[in-house]
Amino acid sequence: MYKILILNGPNLGALGVREPEIYGKQGLDQVPALIQRVMCCDFAKIQLEFFQSNSEGALIDRLEQAKKDKVDGVAFNAGAYTHTSLALADCLAWIKIPCVEVHISNVFARKEEIRRQSYMATQVIGIISGFGINSYALAVRALFDYLENKPK
Ligand code: DQA
Repeated sequence: MYKILILNGPNLGALGVREPEIYGKQGLDQVPALIQRVMCCDFAKIQLEFFQSNSEGALIDRLEQAKKDKVDGVAFNAGAYTHTSLALADCLAWIKIPCVEVHISNVFARKEEIRRQSYMATQVIGIISGFGINSYALAVRALFDYLENKPK
């Protein structure tokens, strides 16, 4: 059984309402069902935890808690903090929990140049970006396969 934390940063609590033309019409409450569909029979082998906060410190506190709780993997959409937060990158660097960076939109295709920059990118095993809310489910699938294949 793997413990997987789905971590969401600022403005992601407003998914479904917030700029639906970019982020879609589904809320974070739809994510568990999408994960169940993508994980198929492996769904029984994961235990999911969810946390969203608009504040940087609370996200760092939650990651530190995940370390204490021996969480196996994190699927992390840090929202705009992706592009600004050295503090979050520093946290990922020391806790060393395998993390997949998640974005609903394809940040590399967005018009603002800053969205193509990620402080987290050097601290994650990979990035899933641009698949709408299904990005979370694909990230969990990728994390699970990574954990299964990691040398013990
Ligand atoms: C986002 C992309 C970020 O640039 C933005 O600040 C967000 C959401 C995404 O999921 O596409 O809040 O992380």
